[in-house]
Amino acid sequence: MNEFKGTVFETVSSTRIKFSTKPGETVSTGSLVEIKDSDGKKYLGRVIGIQRKNYLIDQDGAVQLSSLFSENENLDPDDIGIRGEFDDFIICEVEIIGNREHSNFFIRSKKPFKIGTKVYKASPEFLNKQLEPKTNSIEIGHFRDNEDVPIHIDLNELISKHFSVLAMTGSGKSWTISVIIESIAKEYDIPILIFDPHGEYSSLKVAKNEEGERIARKTKIFVAAKESTKKRSDKLFEKKFNVNRNSKSLYFNMTDFETYQIIHLLKSLYELSEAQSRILQAGWAEITNEPELKDTTDIECIIKKLKGVGESTTQGPSAMKILSTKLEMLYESLPYIQKSTDQKIIKEDEIVKKGQISVIDISGIEEIQQQALVAILSSRILKKRMKGDIPPLLLILEEAHRYIPSGAVNTASKPTIKRVAQEGRKFLMGMGIVSQRPSRLDDDVLSQCNNQIIMRLTNPNDQNYVKKVSEWISEADVDEIRSMAPGEAFIFGSAVPLSLPMRIKTKRLTEHGGYTPDIVDELENF
Ligand SMILES: Nc1ncnc2c1ncn2[C@@H]1O[C@H](COP(=O)(O)OP(=O)(O)O)[C@@H](O)[C@H]1O
Ligand SMILES: [Mg+2]
Repeated sequence: MNEFKGTVFETVSSTRIKFSTKPGETVSTGSLVEIKDSDGKKYLGRVIGIQRKNYLIDQDGAVQLSSLFSENENLDPDDIGIRGEFDDFIICEVEIIGNREHSNFFIRSKKPFKIGTKVYKASPEFLNKQLEPKTNSIEIGHFRDNEDVPIHIDLNELISKHFSVLAMTGSGKSWTISVIIESIAKEYDIPILIFDPHGEYSSLKVAKNEEGERIARKTKIFVAAKESTKKRSDKLFEKKFNVNRNSKSLYFNMTDFETYQIIHLLKSLYELSEAQSRILQAGWAEITNEPELKDTTDIECIIKKLKGVGESTTQGPSAMKILSTKLEMLYESLPYIQKSTDQKIIKEDEIVKKGQISVIDISGIEEIQQQALVAILSSRILKKRMKGDIPPLLLILEEAHRYIPSGAVNTASKPTIKRVAQEGRKFLMGMGIVSQRPSRLDDDVLSQCNNQIIMRLTNPNDQNYVKKVSEWISEADVDEIRSMAPGEAFIFGSAVPLSLPMRIKTKRLTEHGGYTPDIVDELENF
């Protein structure tokens, strides 16, 4: 049975109508309704404004009542003859969204909605028909106001056009990302790679049920950290989840750094003089491409070659001497730079592989080292992908403000991630950007994301910012975003037919959370 809500009394335009409820009925802004046009075809509408009224007290009545009350505040309306049903009725303004049953998009009626037409609450059956996925999609939750209306997102739009997950800490970003990963991996073999700065995604290896086993089997853990840190993390993980995460160490060569990456890294760690930067500008790209240096584990060989370039520039010899020391220090300090051949290099096609979820655990290294690693790995993967050597993939960047900060702040990873944002769309290298501070994220990268999953955000700067970068978000949506509960989200963009408030799935296939012990556990070791 459809739930009757009210009767149309005014057609404001072909896409706007007004209806009135009976006294006592409740309707709230954002409610979805169904309404027939003069041909009898049903359309979906959304209540965009409400006004409460009452028969017994209209505008004139209120003026008179105010006069009486101002003389005697204790006067009861009952004493002056206002008796009976005192319930308010509600006047609702409705925006007609359209009908999507025979198309991929909502199509609006060409016929007017007649005065007197009945308006009903949108039934789950009608809504499901309207929201039905027409292409490959994943289900990540349900409509907030009705559990029987699942929300699907179009997989191709989500991945090939990039997406962001933006919300305050604790509102469910990582949970949402995990739900997306589980939902993709359950049905599809799209390679997924996650940069994991908190060590919280290794738990994808811990199944909660049979479906979760499939996810756990697909998950491979790669760690960039000192051997001793890695061993400790492996142990902590096993202690917490009783599962061996079977992690591998990640190693790269110094020559994997591109010129701007090495310059930035040295600058932020040890400062670089103009002359030292010039030497790297002049020689780094060329020498790191030389075949005999490509796989070298020996920093001295690289320095020797660079000297050839450095000493021919002005201030070369002295600048080169200091630069050599800095390069040696960098080489020694980066745990993921290969120092002997028994530290095996892992190739891009071992990380980006059909049916594999690769978690890159970077929780054991410092932020500057993380930025440099994100830079090396993403740029190598983009290059391989552009050549077609590895399959299409989804790359997820947690704590994205660390890697792509806004404004003039630079990091070793910013130019690379910008390139992935631009080129990745053409080459099917999708990116998911996760952050609790959208206003501190690089504008370009964020505006390349065609889809936004937005959860609770209370900072006004962040609210304004998401409105600015997304053509889909309205003022009314921002009001909702302010007061969302954990696990509630809005999805805006091309991957959904309609942006509705939703709840992200509560049921997970694998465990959620990191392996770091809490303070009470840790105290026991002392
Ligand atoms: N959809 C959800 N269903 C159930 N619990 C959730 C959901 N989203 C978040 N939570 C709870 O909130 C906590 C914080 O979520 P998390 O995703 O880690 O937050 P953050 O936004 O900081 O990444 C989780 O540990 C979980 O207990
Ligand atoms: Mg998180």
